[in-house]
Amino acid sequence: MLIAHLSDPHIRTGPLAGEPAANLHHALGRILALQPQPDCVVITGDLCQQGHAGAYPDLRALIENFPLPIHLTTGNHDDPDALLAAFGGSRFLGGTTSTTYSVDYPAATIIVLDSHRSGSPAGLLGDQQLAWLDATLARRPDVPAFVCLHHPPMPVGIPFLDDMRLDDGPALAQVITRHAHVSRILAGHIHRVIFAPFAGTTVAIAPSTYRQSVLRMHDDQPPGYLAEPNGYLLHQLLDGNCITHSVPASHAAAVLGHF
Ligand SMILES: [Fe+2]
Repeated sequence: MLIAHLSDPHIRTGPLAGEPAANLHHALGRILALQPQPDCVVITGDLCQQGHAGAYPDLRALIENFPLPIHLTTGNHDDPDALLAAFGGSRFLGGTTSTTYSVDYPAATIIVLDSHRSGSPAGLLGDQQLAWLDATLARRPDVPAFVCLHHPPMPVGIPFLDDMRLDDGPALAQVITRHAHVSRILAGHIHRVIFAPFAGTTVAIAPSTYRQSVLRMHDDQPPGYLAEPNGYLLHQLLDGNCITHSVPASHAAAVLGHF
């Protein structure tokens, strides 16, 4: 089982729409050239830029003909109503009309949570969604599970982003701790590659396919998002273990797949 994990493409409308769309298209082209090809692609939120609801149909046009399954996650910049209007009922939301869903593969369960919180850049899952997660994880206890959400559930050492992490991370930890088959928690939001232990598993944070955040470990430095090299993570189930590769996309001299 191979899972390509992208994040934070921030697709937008208007005169600056070209760069984020081209970057996402390039990263997907790199994934398509992998041998073997991944079983699926997960994009962990901030699909479109806040205030650019018209970008969702453009995102759909961009990924519509991609031949591998893509599973979309909602981020704080996303507009859930516009996302559902463009993707509800499609394979991109597991065939559901919800931004919380799961998809069963023979070798893994992909579970997608919606941590979007209206009016706040921080994240929240809430009791109802956590109860659904608990029940969904209990359904296939012998199959590795990947829990996907936008907001990291723990601090990462970048104060201004830690202030907008998942607010109910401890409640998520209580659920995850009950299920030893969670191979990874897949997140985004930070626009940097980060790994951290959490509730007996590992949180893997993918870089943005658009821009990376400054490594700002104190508040004296202004925040910023830079056109640093981008890429994605590749999670591989191998002999009962989960291996994560960090794969460059923008600055790699490599073959591109076309779609
Ligand atoms: Fe983002």
